[in-house]
Amino acid sequence: MAGRFEGKQALVLGVANKRSIAWAIARRLREEGAELAFTFQGERIEKGVRDLAESVGGHVVGECDVRSEDDLDRVFAATADAFGGGLDCLVHSVAFAAAEDLEGRFTDTPRDRFWMAVDISAYSLVAAARRAEPLLQARGGGSIVTMTYLGGVRAVPHYNVMGVAKATLDASVRYLAWDLGHSNIRVNAISAGPVRTLAARSIAGFTTMEEMFEQRAPLHRHMDADDCGAAAAYLLSSDAANVTGTTLYVDAGYHAMGM
Ligand SMILES: NC(=O)c1ccc[n+]([C@@H]2O[C@H](COP(=O)([O-])OP(=O)(O)OC[C@H]3O[C@@H](n4cnc5c(N)ncnc54)[C@H](O)[C@@H]3O)[C@@H](O)[C@H]2O)c1
Repeated sequence: MAGRFEGKQALVLGVANKRSIAWAIARRLREEGAELAFTFQGERIEKGVRDLAESVGGHVVGECDVRSEDDLDRVFAATADAFGGGLDCLVHSVAFAAAEDLEGRFTDTPRDRFWMAVDISAYSLVAAARRAEPLLQARGGGSIVTMTYLGGVRAVPHYNVMGVAKATLDASVRYLAWDLGHSNIRVNAISAGPVRTLAARSIAGFTTMEEMFEQRAPLHRHMDADDCGAAAAYLLSSDAANVTGTTLYVDAGYHAMGM
């Protein structure tokens, strides 16, 4: 597909393996012409991410634990080097909560793990956007996309602290959109229905969630990571030139239902 991202450069945070939503987004951007850069979190997945990056002719700009200011500084500097000082698109597809906090009662979440989930899953967008800003400005503007979930606006059993983190992420999208709009930088979120990934498997009752989703969503069908890829490509492209500070639901309509 010739496309909307010819001559554009994108940094993708959040590829763990070929099932990752970030990977589906990356593939779609590549298909439409983008040049890509990736980070990875931890040696365990380094080889896998390097192989995936190579398969799309992408750069690996280093290891990045989003809790580390040093890691973030290093990978954004490496991105600037790889991309001639600029950047057009940033994909943020990162989240984490301790497995024991994705089952049982939200009420029992301890303080340290509450903040860890918010730090990794929400503050990381702010920290990354701040570092991306000068690179995006160097291109006269750009676009940032993050991944969220309905559990940030409604109580979804088992989603627990991750729902609170997503609410923080959703609000951060709106405040970043306001700040960065002055530089023609757009910031949006995709709220996805259940997709079988590494992160999803750590949520207790994920299979039940999928079953209920298919039963109750107006379109009565599952979705996959490629649906997120297509939506992200739209939000990151000039087709969405006047779209910022919003959440695009890619969930077969599930969010529209009251029962
Ligand atoms: N899978 C779903 O059903 C679904 C639905 C809605 C939203 N989402 C969101 O999509 C995003 C991507 O998740 P996914 O489902 O593709 O799973 P995934 O496990 O493939 O991706 C999660 C990524 O977060 C990264 N990560 C975790 N902690 C990190 C840290 N400290 N520093 C840097 N990176 C870290 C992991 O390395 C991984 O690449 C997440 O924000 C998730 O909440 C997923």
